[in-house]
Amino acid sequence: MAVIAQQCPHIKVTVVDVNADRIAAWNDSELEDLPIYEPGLKEVVAEARGRNLFFSTDVTAAIRESDMIFISVNTPTKTYGNGKGQAADLKYIELCARQIAEVAEGDKIVVEKSTLPVRTAQAIKTILSNNQSNAKFQVLSNPEFLAEGTAIADLNAPDRVLIGGDQTPEGLEAIEALTAIYANWVPRERILQTNVWSSELSKLVANAFLAQRISSINSISALCEKTEANVDEIAKAIGMDSRIGSKFLKASVGFGGSCFQKDILNLVYIARSYGLAEVADYWEQVITMNDYQKRRFAQNIITKLNNTLSGKKIALLGWAFKKDTNDTRESAAIYVADYLLNEEAEVYVYDPKVSESQMLKDLDYLNTRLSEENRNRLRKVADVEQAVADAHAVAILTEWDEFKSYDWKGLSQQMIKPGFIFDGRNILEMKGEEGQGVYITGIGRV
Ligand code: UDX
Repeated sequence: MAVIAQQCPHIKVTVVDVNADRIAAWNDSELEDLPIYEPGLKEVVAEARGRNLFFSTDVTAAIRESDMIFISVNTPTKTYGNGKGQAADLKYIELCARQIAEVAEGDKIVVEKSTLPVRTAQAIKTILSNNQSNAKFQVLSNPEFLAEGTAIADLNAPDRVLIGGDQTPEGLEAIEALTAIYANWVPRERILQTNVWSSELSKLVANAFLAQRISSINSISALCEKTEANVDEIAKAIGMDSRIGSKFLKASVGFGGSCFQKDILNLVYIARSYGLAEVADYWEQVITMNDYQKRRFAQNIITKLNNTLSGKKIALLGWAFKKDTNDTRESAAIYVADYLLNEEAEVYVYDPKVSESQMLKDLDYLNTRLSEENRNRLRKVADVEQAVADAHAVAILTEWDEFKSYDWKGLSQQMIKPGFIFDGRNILEMKGEEGQGVYITGIGRV
């Protein structure tokens, strides 16, 4: 929304949320304190806020005065009832639709921005059609493909913008209205217009394909470790085939983030609910492989440290699910830490952006042990030196740029010997045995 406001100074954009603290943070004059850390975001907010970008808790007023309403609420995986652990929880979407139906006066275009299961637009339409004032609504699907850490660049120059709507004269008119907004900065040929169901499903499928590539290369990383092939060399060799392409072939400790797992589970649930068991099983394997990769990484640490971690200091570098974000949702680090804590390791974490309270919250959410135990065994430290000093092992879990530029020779001398460095992102130069009792292991290379 902030980028739409920045790119279209003639359009008034009001972002509303019932959470007053969050809105206050978005209105904070101290731009460092915005609720989301995203490179370039504060500059966009600085330019547009107060000009044509506003943050407010007055949801009713904003619905009344807007011609177009974007629903951008969370759609987490359901934690209860039918579809528990797989289906998307649509309660926030429904609440939004009901509120719009209740207060809207006059015709509106409602845009699904959240990632939703295919055919959600139908549910929204049904709710909206039962409104008080005979207002007419068009429901569009306009999924967001930005990636965190590069969100502003992705929004400024998207590969494509996807807009799905009813193929009726009114639907097509609504599609055109939204197209006209993006056309202020996106070339028309990059704005795809489809039916609403293709648009909804495309988003799930895009994330499933991206995640599938990572699970595919990660599965090969396990094979490389057995055969002395090098997974980065394989990624390069296959990626140069233009039919395969080179992106999203970086083997890692496992993918995380708010989207991949959630969207695949959703796809699996939808396929299963239509009786497509083979399709569901096929996509579920992407998650199975990702869980295996995280477990395998942790198990490797445990095995190399002679199956005894109790009382040993282990340093984790990185907690965010990828670099340049403070987002930790589904981060591989959470699961790796959990396995190490099961072995009663003393875990010291350094991440340049994630707070200790967030780390503990992530662990508590898994419910593996008492939260007091998590607090006793895991702590955040302020810099890499404190993490590494006297550690038996160091595990790199996020590919923060600063981790690449450290004096690793010097740092590793602060470790207890023999010391082990487990590079879950393959960012260190591999020289096998580093000498002086320090051993480096990567993913998919020996
Ligand atoms: C993803 C999609 O890329 C984006 O289009 C969609 O809108 C939301 O979901 P995001 O979750 O922000 O974006 O991050 P992404 O860059 O896709 O990375 C996801 C995870 O995969 C991270 O944990 C990352 O470290 C991991 N990854 C990515 C790999 O392990 N290897 C790769 O080659 C690429």
